[in-house]
Amino acid sequence: MIRTAMNIGKLHLSVPITLAPMEEHTSFPFRLLMKRFGAGLVCTERIDAADVARRDRRALRMLYTTTEERPRAAQISGAEPAVMAAAARVVEEHGFDLVDLNFECPIRRLMARGEGGALMADPAAVERIVAEVARAVSIGVTLKLRSGPDLEHETAAEIAQRAQDAGAVAIVVHARSVAQAYVGDADWDVVSRVKQAVNVPVLGSGGIREAGDVVHRLRESGADGVAIGRGCLGNPWVFRQSRALLAGNSAGPPPTRAERGRALLQLVEGEFRYYGRAVAIRRLARTSCYFAKSLPDFNEFRGAVHRVRDLAGFRRLVSEYFR
Ligand SMILES: Cc1cc2nc3c(=O)[nH]c(=O)nc-3n(C[C@H](O)[C@H](O)[C@H](O)COP(=O)(O)O)c2cc1C
Repeated sequence: MIRTAMNIGKLHLSVPITLAPMEEHTSFPFRLLMKRFGAGLVCTERIDAADVARRDRRALRMLYTTTEERPRAAQISGAEPAVMAAAARVVEEHGFDLVDLNFECPIRRLMARGEGGALMADPAAVERIVAEVARAVSIGVTLKLRSGPDLEHETAAEIAQRAQDAGAVAIVVHARSVAQAYVGDADWDVVSRVKQAVNVPVLGSGGIREAGDVVHRLRESGADGVAIGRGCLGNPWVFRQSRALLAGNSAGPPPTRAERGRALLQLVEGEFRYYGRAVAIRRLARTSCYFAKSLPDFNEFRGAVHRVRDLAGFRRLVSEYFR
């Protein structure tokens, strides 16, 4: 049976459909947009725990949040239990409802430091980190795992069990190995195996592209929830539509061109407020291309975006192309 709401520790989610953390994407304005479209929980991108612990200005900026995006999680990565605990305390101070620990990132620089995905090969080290973080904060501690370091070594269920015993309140499983990075099919059987291994809620992630995938994955895997990554880039409707399907209604019609334009504009206006004009303009082509890729005149639109110099100019462009 698919549940239509879920609790993570003391936290209640109105719907078990969450936004997966994505570097360079899940900034404050992006998270707010996904929230408005129905995400049950949103999460920051991965932030280095060492930077958070020493209150580096850029790291603290990434922890900007308001009550409007509640409930929300912040994700940190690191290998030193004491540093992770210190960073988790800063996360709690900033008002986040959960602190998520990243044991999944395949980036070489991180792996070389024994952080992120490197820890999928060391269940005992993960347990030590979770225990120290759980002692340090009163908000819930969650984990983001892969299936294992590679397809030959599946460690997710063991790590999930150890983490649960050490105080974790939920486990998110990206159903690929670290070695796979982001390529290849997600294998949701590993999500089922983790679900069978623990009592805390388990959320699956990987390969969800549309609302129908959410229902299918929840039903097949027995997971308590899902975390949507690339499927929501340029497509916040995936949250609204999957909410509707879970409630037993139809997903509704796809967004019109005008609706696409309005959502894009909300995101870009948020980016201008959050990043300021210079950075928002630099991000504009990428931000808007996800929303515009289905336009018949996409190439022309892309060219025009590069000539935009301010928000008023972008508003004009949106009203021209997304009529
Ligand atoms: C561009 C990009 C950046 C990502 N950054 C993070 C991150 O900072 N932390 C994390 O735990 N996972 C990160 N992920 C993994 C996603 O959270 C998600 O689990 C994964 O993409 C699988 O879902 P998908 O196939 O629906 O994209 C990232 C994925 C992508 C594509």
